[in-house]
Amino acid sequence: MPDARERVEELRSEAEAAIAAAADPRSLEELRVRYLGRRAELTSILRGIGELPPGERGAVGSAANEARRALEELLGRRRSELEGAELERELEADAVDVTLPGSPVVPSGSRNLLIRMLREIEDVFVGLGYRVMEGPEVELDYYNFTALNHPPGHPARMAQDTFYVDPESLDPELLLAPTPAEPGGAASGPPLPPGPEDVVLRTHTSPMQVRAMEAESPPILIVVPGRCYRSDPFDATHSPIFHQVEGLAVAEGITLADLKGTLDEFARAIFGPERRTRFRPGFFPFTEPSVEVDVSCFRCGGSGELPDGSRDPLCKGIGWIEILGSGMVDPNVFGFVRARGYDPERLQGFAFGMGIERIAMLKHGVPDLRKFFDNDVRVLEQFR
Ligand code: DAH
Repeated sequence: MPDARERVEELRSEAEAAIAAAADPRSLEELRVRYLGRRAELTSILRGIGELPPGERGAVGSAANEARRALEELLGRRRSELEGAELERELEADAVDVTLPGSPVVPSGSRNLLIRMLREIEDVFVGLGYRVMEGPEVELDYYNFTALNHPPGHPARMAQDTFYVDPESLDPELLLAPTPAEPGGAASGPPLPPGPEDVVLRTHTSPMQVRAMEAESPPILIVVPGRCYRSDPFDATHSPIFHQVEGLAVAEGITLADLKGTLDEFARAIFGPERRTRFRPGFFPFTEPSVEVDVSCFRCGGSGELPDGSRDPLCKGIGWIEILGSGMVDPNVFGFVRARGYDPERLQGFAFGMGIERIAMLKHGVPDLRKFFDNDVRVLEQFR
């Protein structure tokens, strides 16, 4: 009778080779039955241990058990390998190339003209060294008015038809948290928690002037794009929701000439290299002096007349088109952020604010502001 232990080793290496060569989970299962099943030779060797001469039992028993354990482990490992490869094959066969065009080809979306206009304006100022900052649309009256030099009861507050927000309806800390005051900082500040008339939908982007100065010491050069709200009708030139870009530049020695140069650059970048700007006196509570800024008409070139001698309807024959409000930052505004290093005796600055709808209407000849909002596919496609 051949030595049982040698037979165990023979079976083990035979099985090992067969398992390694198995090509799929099914043949693996057949091998399991053949080498480890109830009627397998190794199984009967294990079963017959008791009949062996006592001197052989220990060695054969441990070799057979060891072979069984090793083969089980090998089977397990090979099974996961084969199943993994199978899954891999299935996934590959099923793969969909999501980069292929749809059928029929689905047109991709594009940015709304207003947002494109906004980005274009941002780009001009980023090119001049400005940073883009954004701020809350639900704003404290303090930032929207008070710190912009509209004292309580000031008639300019009435000029903007403000939407008020019930502070109980908000998490004031989340939405409105003012920049935390420095110890020993400004005595004034927004009333917190806000009372029933202290929270508004911002009527302009100007409140970010104060928030930005609270957050950062001078010098500061920022533009602030964003949505604003006023209780206005919805007609060809008004909307209760509209967009502005605010600008603020504060440093030592800034003058009105810097403002003029900056806005000239802006007007040329947006409306064409031939454009000029002019300042007319204006009034805003937070700038002194304040100016209304016009750009030379880009249809008639500033003459007010079309080539056929008729009056240019775009500038109404004036040759100039109003584009924004601006001015030198009022020292009273610096007074609200003096503790942040904005000493009105040492610093000057300018600010400006423009309506994006207006700029886009002028630049692209859009006759009615509602066109920006009613999602007429023809308009969306024209300005892709
Ligand atoms: N916030 C003003 C408005 O909405 C526009 C404006 C005017 C902004 C003068 C400014 C400025 O920064 O200096 O009517």
